[in-house]
Amino acid sequence: MSVNKKLYEGKAKVIYSTEDPDILLADFKDDATAFNAQKKGTITGKGVINCIISAKLFAELEKVGVKTHYINSVSPNQMLVRAVKIVPLEVVVRNIAAGSLCQQTGLALGTVLKVPLVDFYYKKDELGDPLLTSDRITLLELATPEQVEAITHLALQINQFLIGFFRQCDITLVDFKLEFGMDSQQQILLADEISPDTCRLWDISTQDDSNRRVLDKDRFRKDLGNVEDAYQEVLQRVLKAVENQQ
Ligand code: TMP
Ligand code: ASP
Repeated sequence: MSVNKKLYEGKAKVIYSTEDPDILLADFKDDATAFNAQKKGTITGKGVINCIISAKLFAELEKVGVKTHYINSVSPNQMLVRAVKIVPLEVVVRNIAAGSLCQQTGLALGTVLKVPLVDFYYKKDELGDPLLTSDRITLLELATPEQVEAITHLALQINQFLIGFFRQCDITLVDFKLEFGMDSQQQILLADEISPDTCRLWDISTQDDSNRRVLDKDRFRKDLGNVEDAYQEVLQRVLKAVENQQ
């Protein structure tokens, strides 16, 4: 598959066209940003690690019936994906209170939510990705009410799968962000990535609330150190869990 031109460069990935208009190439970068790119850095090896973790998780999700944009991996940090029109929503599923939920509601860090919470944010850097309501999604025509319902259902299904998968990795899935896209047949596909950049992942056996348990991008966001080690640790645990499932 020959790669043509760069179509889009985001904060963590570059998207290239291929000779097939229905297929794109996603190239995962080592660049790391936080707080809407106010903080910038590099996490060495992140592109490869996030590409492999995302590929494995997309493949596992396909096995349980979730349609994703993932086709196959073509190099350690590159995957072929189905071309989709990204729905401009960042869909966050939360199982445990952390991050902006604590800041905006006063809930204590680590509060276990009785039912998972699905939050929608407007994917628009210029506005700082604000929290949306259903009515605002309709007002701005970001998605139809039917699409929002289908996306919510998919996000909760993906959450149930990922909770179990990460438990096998001795990891608690605190929260994560998903993006969805529409393919040429108007099917909703899970897109973007699922990685330590887009999830909060806590080591199960580190019970205290110290930052030692943090195995995700919060190590970069909060300058906790050992960022590369945490990403590498998640990769090794994910690979082992996938191997054990076969
Ligand atoms: P938040 O607590 O900052 O709202 O983040 C919730 C989850 O979404 C967390 O797992 C990190 C992920 N996330 C992204 O993937 N991209 C983002 O731009 C933000 C703000 C959060
Ligand atoms: N996506 C965020 C940024 O805009 C990074 C994050 O906090 O995950 O830089």
